[in-house]
Amino acid sequence: MKIRYWPVVLADVFLTFISVIFAAVLRFGPPHFGEPYLSLVLPFMVAAMILRPASLAVAGVYRKLWRYSTTRDFVWLISGVIGGTVVLFLSARYVFIPVWEQSFTPPAILIEGFINLSLVVIFRFLLKETEHYQEDIDWKKTGLTPTRNVLIVGAGSAGVHAFTEIVDNPQLGLRAMAFLDDEASKIGRQIQGLPVFGPTIRIAEVVKQQGIDEVIIAIPGAPQQTIMNIQARCQEIPVPCRTIPHFLEGGEESADVPTSALKLPMSLPDITAEEIQAVVKVMQSRNLSIGSRTVEFEKLIADVAQAKHAVAVTNGTSALHLCMIASNVGSGDEVITTPFSFIASANCILFEKATPVFVDIDPQTLNMDPAKLESAITEKTKAIVAVHVFGQPADMDPIMAIAGKHNLIVIEDACEAIGADYKDRRVGAMGRAGTFAFYPNKQMTTGEGAALVTNDEEWANLFRSLRNQGRDKFDGWLNHSRLGYNYRMSELNAAVGVVQLRRLEEMLKKRNDVANAYTKVLAGVEEAKPLRLAPTTTNMSWFVYVVRLREGIPRDSVITLMEKRGIPTRPYFSPIHLQPFYRRQFGFEPGAFPQSEAAGESIVALPFHTNMKVEEIEVVCRALKDVIREITTGA
Ligand SMILES: Cc1ncc(COP(=O)(O)O)c(C=O)c1O
Repeated sequence: MKIRYWPVVLADVFLTFISVIFAAVLRFGPPHFGEPYLSLVLPFMVAAMILRPASLAVAGVYRKLWRYSTTRDFVWLISGVIGGTVVLFLSARYVFIPVWEQSFTPPAILIEGFINLSLVVIFRFLLKETEHYQEDIDWKKTGLTPTRNVLIVGAGSAGVHAFTEIVDNPQLGLRAMAFLDDEASKIGRQIQGLPVFGPTIRIAEVVKQQGIDEVIIAIPGAPQQTIMNIQARCQEIPVPCRTIPHFLEGGEESADVPTSALKLPMSLPDITAEEIQAVVKVMQSRNLSIGSRTVEFEKLIADVAQAKHAVAVTNGTSALHLCMIASNVGSGDEVITTPFSFIASANCILFEKATPVFVDIDPQTLNMDPAKLESAITEKTKAIVAVHVFGQPADMDPIMAIAGKHNLIVIEDACEAIGADYKDRRVGAMGRAGTFAFYPNKQMTTGEGAALVTNDEEWANLFRSLRNQGRDKFDGWLNHSRLGYNYRMSELNAAVGVVQLRRLEEMLKKRNDVANAYTKVLAGVEEAKPLRLAPTTTNMSWFVYVVRLREGIPRDSVITLMEKRGIPTRPYFSPIHLQPFYRRQFGFEPGAFPQSEAAGESIVALPFHTNMKVEEIEVVCRALKDVIREITTGA
């Protein structure tokens, strides 16, 4: 149990104390400190104050905070209190009464249970109203207007559902302004405190009048043509629009529709008021590039990577490019990497006119298979780009040993793996240099951005020069010692990064919890297997959550059917050697790297982000199981 739950536990203990007192007053009259009153009440009071919270804990009431007080929460609560009463009843019957002869009597236990239930329910709902969530943005503090103004088309149950999701989930950054509906009986009324305008033909006028930034179409029962007409009008205005739930075959609202269509993004950066304030402060300082935020960001990155130096740059692709320049690869040289990665891991080799040589992957970990590495080395090989795919470290010891034997430079593409450990060693600076990327779908974000890490001072200085138009440390602004680039990270991005890095450990832990929850819900589903973690992965840094579909299950059909249920999924990855321009340039054909190709055809990434709730995970997994059943049985 986390430390932040202790005040709630103590409050429940206190409520039990009050209920016992009340029950005692009702049963035995006003309290006094003499016998037999104390021996009647005291043993029971002590037992109740221990057993009640224990029963609530067993029922799972302390397992999470109560952001959404769902029916399930309520059932947990009631079963916790009832369970506690049963335990107390049994302990009174078999322990207190035999040992102390007279103790709290069964009727008093029932009275106490009833009072306790009422108090705990009231307390829990008060708590729900007042609870402050770390990820909630305190817009007042930032001094910014909170949201994008939203018009909800459809004032029926789907529209109201969209409204409550917007209200309940400030992370969405939306503010519902009004409903728009065609039904005459609704037009002119207030629903959920919002005005209902109509008919939908007036959309342009309402958008203008209400200062609308986005339209949400929530009329799942409407004919597809009606929805397409509204979308066309939004395009004309123009105003962005999205449709929830997604088009359903038959046009009817179905039980399969996730309860959380708005809240199920593929990924979602974890942004709090702190990041927003940090950006505002940079703006106020007027120092928007080359400043103290970048220096602090680099120091924190070096700490996380346990490396001597860190250099912030614009994105992971530019970071990898600089590694290729520093490795001095060029035309006629070969660089070895994996075909099962994001395209930038191989493109960086092409930027410097060297030739990428691919080595197939280990099907379990999806990382480069070191057993296949040595046979790919020729006298032209200069470097190896080892990628830590999906946040799982590649098997670095054999890679480093083979590289050492052949005098090759090792670059770690750790763009997806910040904070991961290989045999208790941090990824990033095990090789000569490494890269971390911070696009918004990553474990932490800077908007766009990346960092290079290295223990080599000379390389660190070279990176600093290369990212800054080739200026050396003591060069003047218009002196350029070498060919360089503008790969500098702005102070705005660095400021976000500083806050995110301070929260990194907590975010990685939450992502680990989300991944574990997925694995638990999917346990026993033979058709969709989670990623296997190697024994060498002593700390996994979850970038995405992927499952591998059983052979014969068409991955693309799974994606399409999930999409129909409003749940986004992605094919991850499409092997690099089969990308059209690699095939054109190098003549690769299917079959060249069978393990990567098999993985590319069967792996699908599920919605995943730091603050994903168990309920959402269950919605995704239920849909996945249904889709697989539909495909395999045709039902
Ligand atoms: C393994 C890997 N390498 C490189 C990159 C490139 O990073 P960026 O998108 O920041 O350029 C990514 C980005 O997703 C990646 O996953």
